[in-house]
Amino acid sequence: MDKSPIILGIESSCDDTSAAVLQGQKVLSNIVANQSIHKKYGGVVPELASRAHQQNIIPVVDIAIKKAKIRKRDINAIAYTQGPGLLGSLLVGGSFAKAFSLAMNIPLINVNHMKGHVLSHFIDDNQKMPNFPFLCLTVSGGHTQIVKVINHLEMEIIGQTIDDAAGEAFDKSAKILGIDYPGGPLIDKYSKDGNINTFKFNKPKVSGLDFSFSGLKTSILYKINNELQKDKNFIKNNFNDLCASIQHSIISILLEKIELAILNTGIKEIAIAGGVSANSYLRDELTKLSQINNFNLYIPKFEYCTDNAAMIAISGFYEYINNNFTSYDTVSSARLIF
Ligand code: KG4
Ligand code: ZN
Repeated sequence: MDKSPIILGIESSCDDTSAAVLQGQKVLSNIVANQSIHKKYGGVVPELASRAHQQNIIPVVDIAIKKAKIRKRDINAIAYTQGPGLLGSLLVGGSFAKAFSLAMNIPLINVNHMKGHVLSHFIDDNQKMPNFPFLCLTVSGGHTQIVKVINHLEMEIIGQTIDDAAGEAFDKSAKILGIDYPGGPLIDKYSKDGNINTFKFNKPKVSGLDFSFSGLKTSILYKINNELQKDKNFIKNNFNDLCASIQHSIISILLEKIELAILNTGIKEIAIAGGVSANSYLRDELTKLSQINNFNLYIPKFEYCTDNAAMIAISGFYEYINNNFTSYDTVSSARLIF
């Protein structure tokens, strides 16, 4: 019989309510409830997200426990996302986790969402796991970071965005093109029938390992507005080429920095994580680059790229085996850093 601890993970940092049960590194269940309510607003509306989490949290946890085929009292600890994220959303998962911990008399574990994305690589589900130390390009709707990962608990941010995140660049560009939120996956889809070289946009000039995406967004907006004055059907007539060119611009920025990070650190174990790591063009281009530059590349399964509670539970597992627990007065934090 497997004696590994059973951890219940709770994720509610943005617009996905998720609960997962892991035994050791193995996933017994990983349930995600998406919130379609934000589609028409072109972005996540914090108050609506918080309310939807309140409606979803109990059923999502209930399904996760049933699907895992365990009893509530088999759970050894509960891990939840403390931050970063939307405060109103974080509070729902945090309050639930504290109440559950108290009621079941089990330890409470606070997890940093961004560390969770990195540790998604250690979920035992037919994934190749990176060796320490490795670099992780963590790219999501709220963050863009290059993280040097020393071990499961120690990580250092060696580069990050000074303005927008890569996912934000996808979503805001999509909004300009009239695509519903979140636009990233749709730009990915429509780009497949487009030409990456049709349109050129301004490249950011940020030195070192930091990123910038706000100039690119402005350049895309100006270009499109300019062309729309000449041809009101410009977006419609060039839709796939626009998607492909925008995607190429965003991904090129990421690839350039990861190459520089490899050069600067000499580390040749490279991982990607976060919602944007689901992007097929990023996956393909990085795979090509890994063959040319001879580095080992680790790409999580799709379900562990975007927000999910399995990554919070796996983080909780490493905290648990190191006896790192937290108290009920730990506060949720929108800007939690590590
Ligand atoms: O990690 P995540 O689920 O939530 C945050 O922590 O932000 O990332 C969501 C972001 C959104 O900006 C979404 O557009 C982007 O990931 N995304 C993608 C793709 N799938 C999700 N961007 C580009 N291509 C994709 N296939
Ligand atoms: Zn995330």
